Amino acid sequence: MCGIVGILGQEPVAWKLVDALKRLEYRGYDSAGIAVLADGHIERIRASGKLQALSEKLRSSEPIATSGIGHTRWATHGAPTETNAHPHLGGTVAIVHNGIIENFKELKEELAGKGTTFTTETDTEVVAHMIDYEMKQGKSPREATQVTLQRLEGAFAFAIMFEGEDDLMIGARRGSPLAIGHGSHEMYLGSDAIALAPFTNQVTYLEDGDYVVITRNSFELHNDKGEKITRPLNFTQASALLVDKGNHRHFMAKEIAEQPDVVGHTLAEYVDFDERTVRLPSEVELDFTDLDRLTITACGTASYAGLVGKYWFERYARLPVEVDIASEFRYREAPLTKGGLSMVISQSGETADTLAALRYCKSEGQRVAAVVNVPESTISRESDVVVRTYAGPEIGVASTKAFTCQLTVLACLAIAAARARGVMSLEQEHELVGQLVKLPRNLVKTLEQEDHIDRIARHIAGKRDVLYLGRGINFPIAMEGALKLKELSYIHAEGYAAGELKHGPIALIEEGVPVVVIAPRDELFEKTVSNMEEVAARGARIVLITDRAGAAASGADAFETITVPQADPFVAPVLYSVPVQLLAYHAAVFMGTDVDQPRNLAKSVTVE
Ligand code: M6R
Repeated sequence: MCGIVGILGQEPVAWKLVDALKRLEYRGYDSAGIAVLADGHIERIRASGKLQALSEKLRSSEPIATSGIGHTRWATHGAPTETNAHPHLGGTVAIVHNGIIENFKELKEELAGKGTTFTTETDTEVVAHMIDYEMKQGKSPREATQVTLQRLEGAFAFAIMFEGEDDLMIGARRGSPLAIGHGSHEMYLGSDAIALAPFTNQVTYLEDGDYVVITRNSFELHNDKGEKITRPLNFTQASALLVDKGNHRHFMAKEIAEQPDVVGHTLAEYVDFDERTVRLPSEVELDFTDLDRLTITACGTASYAGLVGKYWFERYARLPVEVDIASEFRYREAPLTKGGLSMVISQSGETADTLAALRYCKSEGQRVAAVVNVPESTISRESDVVVRTYAGPEIGVASTKAFTCQLTVLACLAIAAARARGVMSLEQEHELVGQLVKLPRNLVKTLEQEDHIDRIARHIAGKRDVLYLGRGINFPIAMEGALKLKELSYIHAEGYAAGELKHGPIALIEEGVPVVVIAPRDELFEKTVSNMEEVAARGARIVLITDRAGAAASGADAFETITVPQADPFVAPVLYSVPVQLLAYHAAVFMGTDVDQPRNLAKSVTVE
């Protein structure tokens, strides 16, 4: 789950590498490093910690070179020290790696038996030494790389540089993404198009098993058997300008604030505003008519979107839905009906477990639809139907706008399914689409509560435990709120179905424990309020998130109330996501944690 980049350029390359790494830092930020070829010799600069530390080192001694590779790391094998930071060297070879080499221990022993000494604990260093060893046996860099790749087990994307070869670089992919960027007398490698956005918008994606030999003016793609192949050239929309904090203090703040716009953009693709109906784009070829089941898999926040989707599909389209987290689903050997439909949900489109779930569903003969935010991603490319969210680049590690856009898309799909299955009248569709259309405006009104929520967040900051309660369609939002708080502020938080409280979690309640209750005035409101009273009676400090009607009816047990616009329960999950995001954000800011890059996390989890 690291970011890699390689540049064969015309100008000094060190700061260009750092610029690309900045765009890849969402993939990991335990350490960073670059290696360049200065007068044919490999020079390496590495630092543990965030990219800032590498930049500081570079400021005091910038190597002058026009080719180089770079890496930002999320540690798997070996502590996040400078020694273990990439690039790694093996004789005349320098390499950066995203992924895990599963058989590295036996390969390492084999090389050690032949006299190789290692300086790091990483799996990657072994690969550099293997290539170097093969070159010492007389093979060319390409041949040496190819035989080495054939011996590796696991997942990887590599960029490899060779001492004395200023116009040569090799990239390889199995499992982890890699793109070739085409410039004018310049060539690039990168984990994604966003990394390469300042340099080029023309990219070619490697498929699993491919490797590529690049020079400044050429590239040659091969499959794992060494045969020459071609892959399509893509023109990406990953504009360099979009990846910017604007006037906001953090990417997360910007992304929360963007929700009225991006939910609006997403709706515009799926809704006919004049007719008040759902209108799926022609490329979203989905037939829900005769389905007897839908299987949804995803990870983290995206899996909570799937859980909300389950409520919508089951309630409105009478379509049974099974939702599973992808890391469990992939090993469950779930029986799936041939010709049936599965759905995966992913912001990045690169999450390893979700990708594995997709491949499993396909191997079982299912069609797979992907609700995905990055159209160039592996999940987009491997699924049968792409249902895009239009959240734009999400850089903050905590998912916010991607989540509400996923919800928006799922709500539209549920309506489309209900119509196709003949269980929703046109009148009801008009009513629900009308609620969706009001979302951007209602999201703006919800965001107006930010100062109030900031003050409440100060009471949550620093607490040991926080509980989130919700019922029905808002239960997943309670889990999402808890996930946001723990990943940003490191406070222990759990989301529970309010009715489950008495079956265990209520034991956690003692004087002053914050309990965030998500309770729009819907048919379950009274029951949730009873649960709220039970914890209030035991000393909990209630933060009630409700609408005007709910605030009036809830009694005096709430310590604080956040009032969101009155809306149909159908759209409540989208609206109620915002206060829980803001609570987590402001608690984290107050506590001084690193909001956009919380400890131990990475934006895109490309290892299992
Ligand atoms: O890119 P994906 O949507 O597939 O990512 C899934 C999860 O890793 C992600 O939602 C994660 O849980 C976020 N950090 C939550 O804020």
